[in-house]
Amino acid sequence: MTARIGLIGLGTMGAMLALNIAEKGFPIAVWNRTTQVTRDFAAGAGELSSRIVPTESLEELVAAIAKPRAIILMVPAGPAVDQQIEALRPLLDPEDLIIDAGNANFHDTDRRAAAASGYRFLGMGVSGGEEGARHGPSIMGGGAREDWDRVAPVLEAISAKYEGIPCATHMGPGGAGHFVKAVHNGIEYADMQMIAEIYGVMRDGLSMKASAVGEVFSAWNAGPLQSYLVEISAAVAKAVDGEKPMLDVILDKAGQKGTGRWTVIEAQNLSSPIPVIEAAVMARNVSARLDERRRGEAEFGAAPMALPPGAVTVAQLEQAMIAGKILCYAQGFDLIVAAGHEFGWDLPLPAIARVWREGCIIRSSMLNDMATALAENPGRNLMLAPFFAAHLKASVPGLRSVVAAGVAHGLAMPALSQGLAWFDMMRTGRSTANMIQGQRDFFGAHGFERLDQPGTGLHGPWGGHMA
Ligand code: 6PG
Repeated sequence: MTARIGLIGLGTMGAMLALNIAEKGFPIAVWNRTTQVTRDFAAGAGELSSRIVPTESLEELVAAIAKPRAIILMVPAGPAVDQQIEALRPLLDPEDLIIDAGNANFHDTDRRAAAASGYRFLGMGVSGGEEGARHGPSIMGGGAREDWDRVAPVLEAISAKYEGIPCATHMGPGGAGHFVKAVHNGIEYADMQMIAEIYGVMRDGLSMKASAVGEVFSAWNAGPLQSYLVEISAAVAKAVDGEKPMLDVILDKAGQKGTGRWTVIEAQNLSSPIPVIEAAVMARNVSARLDERRRGEAEFGAAPMALPPGAVTVAQLEQAMIAGKILCYAQGFDLIVAAGHEFGWDLPLPAIARVWREGCIIRSSMLNDMATALAENPGRNLMLAPFFAAHLKASVPGLRSVVAAGVAHGLAMPALSQGLAWFDMMRTGRSTANMIQGQRDFFGAHGFERLDQPGTGLHGPWGGHMA
């Protein structure tokens, strides 16, 4: 049997992707560094094994694939990808295509795409975890359009579908696909953090049991907040370990593999404000400092946290989350626009929202509305698109009440409060940056513009203090 495609790396994600590809009718050749892993995978593939070609050397893998070949790499992001490319390179023909489907840093993907010689290269962001990989991930491709087109039939077939439309799209050249995946992950961090903050208000502010929190999330999942992350948060909150809620036995120390951080670093490089995502990454870092937090609590005492009766309603919490989510996505899409300008990518905003509607971790019903709003209002920040502007007008008062109660009673809500601060800044026509400009001119003669006089490089009457 000649394979239509090859796959290297049979870890959880690679194995699931390979089964998905085989199930959609494409014969696939697979290889793993440890041969036993390959053998076990093939032996466990059941009826799909008829479309799986297990191979025990790279030469065997390459020989098993129809020309021009396409080979998916599903190995840990970083040096392992470069090593794998190096090992494959001498075995490939110029038209053969390597597809890196790991969570690569998009700068690495750009570099690898530029260095590809004697083979072709695509970088592809894949979201949806193990389940997604097996039954339909969201796929964000980057590289040459013609290379994408060559493998699109396979990728579209294995991807998640939203009302029959494949969630697999070519985003642009080089690292564009992995960049969009990084923004996805930044938003993923922010969505998760906002849910955790609201859970905190319910747990510490309203003394609600985990099961009751779960019921609230389940109810929200039937409304505007319908999303995979709210759905699984309900399940997490309702789960028990014997008598105890699971949430009460899980250590409050969050892990991370770094993709959220990449998003924040890139946003800083691009001077593109994404404060909700930044706060979410910061919160993970603070969560990891468990000993210091415990020392802090011993020194200062825990904040009071308990809210007086009626201070915050569950309906306000829902509004806060709706507002926070819109603001976070507005920032995320803004970052994508900034990157598009900087890197010369024509990133298709509505198509990005569409590809996130199913399969990926941040999938939600709101993304369909975002896709529509972005298509109807090209070049406009999402928060100013009429549909979302109306939603913000209705939901920001709830966000403000929740954040105000949190500030008053010591319930930290970094992501939600950053969302609110950003909103307030973005609707302030006359900010306080005139003071910053005055300071800069005072100590560094950096100059400023005047409201009543055109022209730059003007200076203030700082006298002998002028630098
Ligand atoms: C996805 C996820 C996934 C991510 C991990 C966890 O879209 O399927 O974003 O790619 O790697 O789920 O990431 P952290 O360890 O950084 O939380």
